[in-house]
Amino acid sequence: MSETLFNKVAFIGLGLIGSSLARVMLAEHLVTTIVASTRSRKTLEDAKALGLISEGYSDPIDAVKGADLVILALPVRATQKVLQQIKPYLTENVILTDVGSTKGNVVEAAKAVFGEQLPAGFVPGHPIAGAEHTGVHAGKVDLFVNHKVILTPLATSATLAVSKLTQMWQAAKAEVICMDVDKHDEVLAHTSHLPHLMAFNLVEQLANREDNLDIFRYAAGGFRDFSRIAASDPQMWHDIFFANKKAILNAVDGFESQLKILRQLIEDENSQALMGLLGHAQAARQHFNHMLAQKPLMEKNKVTQQFTILPGNKTFKGKFTVPGDKSVSHRSIMFGAIAEGTTHVTGFLEGEDALATLQAFRSMGVSIEGPKNGEVTIHGVGMNGLKAPTGALYMGNSGTSMRLLSGLLSAQAFDSVMTGDASLSKRPMERIAKPLRQMGAQIQTTGERGTPPVSIAGGQNLQGIHYDLPMASAQVKSGILLAGLWAKGETSVTEPEPTRDHTERMLRAFGYDVKTEGNRISLQGGGKLTATEIQVPSDISSAAFFMVGAAITEGSDVILEAVGINPTRTGVIEILKQMGADLTVENERIAGGEPIADIHIKGTRTLKGIHMPEDQVPLAIDEFPALFIAAACAEGQTILTGAAELRVKESDRIQVMADGLKVMGIDCTPTEDGIIIEGKGKADDWSAIFNGGEIESHHDHRIAMSFSMAGLRTSGEITITGTETVATSFPTFTELANRAGLDIQISEL
Ligand code: S3P
Repeated sequence: MSETLFNKVAFIGLGLIGSSLARVMLAEHLVTTIVASTRSRKTLEDAKALGLISEGYSDPIDAVKGADLVILALPVRATQKVLQQIKPYLTENVILTDVGSTKGNVVEAAKAVFGEQLPAGFVPGHPIAGAEHTGVHAGKVDLFVNHKVILTPLATSATLAVSKLTQMWQAAKAEVICMDVDKHDEVLAHTSHLPHLMAFNLVEQLANREDNLDIFRYAAGGFRDFSRIAASDPQMWHDIFFANKKAILNAVDGFESQLKILRQLIEDENSQALMGLLGHAQAARQHFNHMLAQKPLMEKNKVTQQFTILPGNKTFKGKFTVPGDKSVSHRSIMFGAIAEGTTHVTGFLEGEDALATLQAFRSMGVSIEGPKNGEVTIHGVGMNGLKAPTGALYMGNSGTSMRLLSGLLSAQAFDSVMTGDASLSKRPMERIAKPLRQMGAQIQTTGERGTPPVSIAGGQNLQGIHYDLPMASAQVKSGILLAGLWAKGETSVTEPEPTRDHTERMLRAFGYDVKTEGNRISLQGGGKLTATEIQVPSDISSAAFFMVGAAITEGSDVILEAVGINPTRTGVIEILKQMGADLTVENERIAGGEPIADIHIKGTRTLKGIHMPEDQVPLAIDEFPALFIAAACAEGQTILTGAAELRVKESDRIQVMADGLKVMGIDCTPTEDGIIIEGKGKADDWSAIFNGGEIESHHDHRIAMSFSMAGLRTSGEITITGTETVATSFPTFTELANRAGLDIQISEL
């Protein structure tokens, strides 16, 4: 129950919205007395009979006397007349609001009555809730639950009035958003008014044809879906179209010019551009729910999905093909987009990170077909063909997208902004911004810690530099090399340790000359990329979870097919072998310029704790969370050093893993640049190692998948929260893991 907010509330008008709000006020005890005035005597009688109001009046003047809240819940066009009438009778501290779908004209009406100095209690509002049925009987106490209510406070509005109205709408379980009046009208013109106008227009167009009966008779899903809202109340929409005339006309102009483009593409039979346009729209529609979900992710501790794994003996067996390599997938889109010609990609990872990159290039005007079953076709626009995106580029959870694109965007003629989800928004971006600035880029990160959003001013002439990388980072290396493609002269980097070299390899595959001499990588700016075929190998980082799962499970037998074994990525194989795992690399071959092999691993012997070799750290950088699970199952102590980079991944992977391992009963000590894990394994003893517990993944996909593998050796139930990010790199993880024998149950929260 909420606190009493108002003494006397007067509704002017009591239809669907007004009567629903009255129901909420009564149910939540927000008010002592409710009165109403309406033109219809019957409505007042019904409202009284329903117990919604204590008094009903035909004259609004009688209703507002002594009221501390007046709600105009009547057609917008009547606002000015009613305000004129009630003005002399309003109490001094009255709060005055409305529920109309347009706001500019309500404010105009108020100004016509009160002058520029509007009452401090006046705060226009707009609950965005359905209105198929009307009238006092149609009202429902839950009409506003999970709906948005937009308040448009004015410069004259008192804070107290805004806060009381916010509390009132929150008591109705609505989400309250404050917005400027013009912005409200513009947003609604596009999201509500234009779609209604288009629905009325389409039905009218078809209804006017001579064969309209046939058309309506055979009209199937498309027409039905599109035209549903044309059955709405004509009077209401008539009023809205006039009330929000300016913004609606702008939206109609936008529609007309977009329609012209589409028309022309069909007339010209411009297949490539038409596919580009349709693909872009389809992806935007499919992903907008997810893109909007960035909001809940931004809220601290908000969890949207969880895994549960019950104890019990499990087997872990089978032949699997894990999805495509994330690093290679990102680069295939980036290089395909700036190449000349059409690039075909197979084995593309349809995970959210790589899709964020794909969508970013669509937003920069590149026609991209797919992905469909891992196939993508990119119609390259050449080195100077990218177009300015209309809004910020949303990179989701993907550090690779943001760091590599920082380099690429710094060299473009247009300005750009990149944003990300809660995890990405905490990650360091100065590491790439700093060398880019030395090249002449205008790039800005946010806050003291230099995190996203990243803003880039285009139109700079970049100059090649030599950069000594202070950390082993393929992302920073690649970002610099990408900027170097457009820079004057030579761009070179030296790395403290070799990191994954997919950028270098793929640039060469696109015909660009990149030199690697020892730890120095260089290229000359000003060249061009030529489209090619890219075959993305299976991701060894995804395969790693299954390798560890098999290594810790008695009698397991797992084959991971066609996994990329680029030597800059195989640290996990080397480390598991050093720990004594029964692992063989079979059937080595080359596919699409990258070495691949089948990895066969069996649970035949207990792993041993080791001091993990520091030279393998960059080569296994993403696999340590999984390797820590292996270490917990090993006999003796495992020590990791030289891996401070783990603290700035999708989460602080040293701390988050240590916290989770401790919850599960494993003795471990996080250090500045690594961890010491006391393995609980004993030779030839395959009993449970972990005692179960609740693990917080911090929205880090690899943390979630690593602790899932602990489910193979647990004596208690494991729950892992925040697992929705698994879809960023390994969308089929639970399906494949369960097929192998791990029983993960997923709950959406
Ligand atoms: C990646 C490089 C690595 C790795 C990431 C992908 C890449 O990051 O952790 O998952 O595709 O270049 P750093 O370069 O920051 O080490």
